[in-house]
Amino acid sequence: MRASGLVEATEVSALLDLEGEIERLKKDLHAVVLAHYYQDSEIQDVADVIGDSLQLAQQAAKTSAEVIVFAGVHFMAETAKILNPSKQVLLPDLQAGCSLAEGCPPDLFRHFKQKYPDHIVISYINCSAEIKAMSDIICTSSNAEKIINQIPKEQPILFAPDQNLGRYLIKKTGRNLALWPGTCVVHETFSEKKLIQLMLYHPHAKVLAHPECEESVLQHADYIGSTSGILNYVKHSAGTEFIIATEPGIIHQMEKACRDKTFIPAPPDGDCACNQCPHMRLNTLEKLYLCMKHRAPEITLSEELRLLALRPIQRMLEMS
Ligand code: 13P
Ligand code: SF4
Repeated sequence: MRASGLVEATEVSALLDLEGEIERLKKDLHAVVLAHYYQDSEIQDVADVIGDSLQLAQQAAKTSAEVIVFAGVHFMAETAKILNPSKQVLLPDLQAGCSLAEGCPPDLFRHFKQKYPDHIVISYINCSAEIKAMSDIICTSSNAEKIINQIPKEQPILFAPDQNLGRYLIKKTGRNLALWPGTCVVHETFSEKKLIQLMLYHPHAKVLAHPECEESVLQHADYIGSTSGILNYVKHSAGTEFIIATEPGIIHQMEKACRDKTFIPAPPDGDCACNQCPHMRLNTLEKLYLCMKHRAPEITLSEELRLLALRPIQRMLEMS
């Protein structure tokens, strides 16, 4: 496990104007705040850019800011650092990991890869720098299909680490991908049985799902796509009711963009809030403020590893 954030949220006075302080620190540090759609709504509201994994990586690649504050999970901030070695990249809570990244340890993946010597490795961006360094091309859920379609048909592909996204891509592209058996703890929690019950209560609702969901859920979807794809769908749809089978943080932007539409989170299997990403939700507005105030915790990695991980990320950006 990585060391926890340096600072505790308890040092923040309840009277402090956190939003105002974050704005002041952005100017002082020449910082940009990038936030993923799964972050708490109050974090999204102070961000300069809100986006999906690809959009945030693209922003990180082109920003002129001196400090990148990444309100997301570790692999996202690490990708920003790989693209910007001379910039400081801050993450509000260093423990904000990802079950997909943690479920694909480098040593096991190295052995797995040896079984497929003639395959090229396409890895989902939700993985560590070590896995990126062992990959040929990185992809996200919004460009994976496009990238696979650019690979010659006779070239075998190993896809890691999300097997649900991998199975979805096999269907979409007709390619026979070798799959690393990883899953996302959030997207595998949606229950088909409860989804069907919800669909009966809301017969006109469109079901929108992220491809990290299991096949049993995806088969009921009217639309399958990345977080930005799902957001665009609701903006342009004539429908008024939507069941959202992804992390419910994204509903904040949907409600802001479409005030007259109704968004219903798809239910998890148990009586829990496990459709919320436990990693993303480690970041809070207080920790965001504190990481800017202390300029810590920050992302670091060796130059050797960074250069190896950079190559497949650059290929992704060229092929997107
Ligand atoms: P996208 O935002 O790229 O669709 O990815 C979702 C996700 O699970 C991020 O961890
Ligand atoms: Fe990782 Fe799943 Fe959380 Fe996305 S939602 S960061 S894939 S654990």
